[in-house]
Amino acid sequence: MTEKRKHSIHTLREMKASGEKIAWLTSYDYPTASFAEAAGMDMILVGDSLGMCVYGYEGTVPVTMDQCIVHSEAVRRAAPNTFVVGDMPFMSYQASDEDAVRNAGRFLKEAGVDAVKLEGGKRVLSRIRALLDAGIVVCGHIGLTPQSSGQLGGHKAQGRTIDSARLLIEDALAIEEVGAQLLLLEAVPPEVAGFITTRLGIPVLSIGAGPLCDGQLLIVSDLIGQFQAFTPKFVKKYCDVATAVTQAMTQYVADVKAGAFPADEHCYHMLKEEAPRFPELLKEFESDRPRRNR
Ligand code: KIV
Repeated sequence: MTEKRKHSIHTLREMKASGEKIAWLTSYDYPTASFAEAAGMDMILVGDSLGMCVYGYEGTVPVTMDQCIVHSEAVRRAAPNTFVVGDMPFMSYQASDEDAVRNAGRFLKEAGVDAVKLEGGKRVLSRIRALLDAGIVVCGHIGLTPQSSGQLGGHKAQGRTIDSARLLIEDALAIEEVGAQLLLLEAVPPEVAGFITTRLGIPVLSIGAGPLCDGQLLIVSDLIGQFQAFTPKFVKKYCDVATAVTQAMTQYVADVKAGAFPADEHCYHMLKEEAPRFPELLKEFESDRPRRNR
């Protein structure tokens, strides 16, 4: 089998030009990322959605840089030939350009990611510029931006009115203009996303932004049916891990209680040549017991 070749911003751009769709998935741990690489994923996002999917938080706001680094390191080890994007968590870039560069730098130095993603349009242009000046590949993220969902009035689709669509298009143009190499649109009408995708030269990815973008992103915990709290409209569930794993665990509990597990094949027996001497050993301990109790 030939080894998978890792994408660069050039090959991703070539995919846009040729019309080949980009497949992008989140991953947070070694096993899942290795499955993603084996499946031929073009890109992996170590999303701050790990707050909900791995840690059971209600949202992404509590997620820290240290958590993101630990998970990105594991993903990088598992998927050396996949383009990995680190997601800048809340408060890792909001306060200043310096914070943004320092924290994005950690993603590259400590976890070896290929790019970072940050949320926001025109209001984060100076952050994007600072990251680019530091030589870091940047993915913009507009539309539904979960870190600022309070300001959006909740986790609501964006760009559904003319005024809101105009703002989105202006943000997308500004992000490309400043030099970002990738753009993610979240929960945006397909007609708005389609226009932005055609208008921009950089690859435009969708999560809930319809089929007209250059590629799609899904959250792995949704795709495999692991995340239970809620299912956004844009999710397609490809398998039901929660049911399969719960069934397996229920059977395990029943087997342990019934003495059906472990069976002989799960046991480490004594070496054949040693086994005949085992009764002697037992005798030693039997005669030992009264002495110990004295
Ligand atoms: O953290 C994440 O997985 C994301 C997606 C929701 C776009 O940012």
